[in-house]
Amino acid sequence: MASPKNLQHPPSGRSKSTLLGIFAVFFIVVIAGGTVLYSFSDWSDRARAKKLQNPFPATPEALSGAQVDYRAHCQSCHGVDGDGKGERAERLSVAPADFGEAHALGLQTDGELFWMITEGHKPMPAFRGTMTDEQRWHLVDYVRSFAKKP
Ligand code: HEC
Repeated sequence: MASPKNLQHPPSGRSKSTLLGIFAVFFIVVIAGGTVLYSFSDWSDRARAKKLQNPFPATPEALSGAQVDYRAHCQSCHGVDGDGKGERAERLSVAPADFGEAHALGLQTDGELFWMITEGHKPMPAFRGTMTDEQRWHLVDYVRSFAKKP
């Protein structure tokens, strides 16, 4: 025979764990939902960027201007020849790709490269505020120019 004391305990224990369960589910939903929404917005931005056309022609002047920007902002990781062997490269969590290998960039549109330079691509920082749109578009042409060299 159970005493009244024993009868009272299990229900209160159960409601406590039910409450904990509700909190756990709530946090999982919030975190999972937030992650899905975040990656979704990230992907839709990227999908939109994919279709962007480079509005600036790759003139020799534009490329030499881009070379100055590249040396100032990109070379330390991507290397002077775009081979991904800059002096900071070894300390990065992801090794920069070799721009000289045509297939590394060939699969991506100008818009996607522009988007990556603009928004960053971990561990690469964003350059949205560092340079104008025009400078970043010229850099797209400049990084592609590594692959064209013999
Ligand atoms: C802190 C180091 C660092 C700096 C500075 C940096 N990058 Fe990157 N970049 C990376 C890494 C790491 C990746 C990802 C790996 C890779 O190259 O695919 C990357 C990726 C890229 C990609 C995409 C390559 C691909 O194949 O998907 C482009 C294009 C690029 N960077 C251009 C630039 C330009 C232009 C600059 C200067 C404005 C720059 N990066 C500055 C480290 C850096």
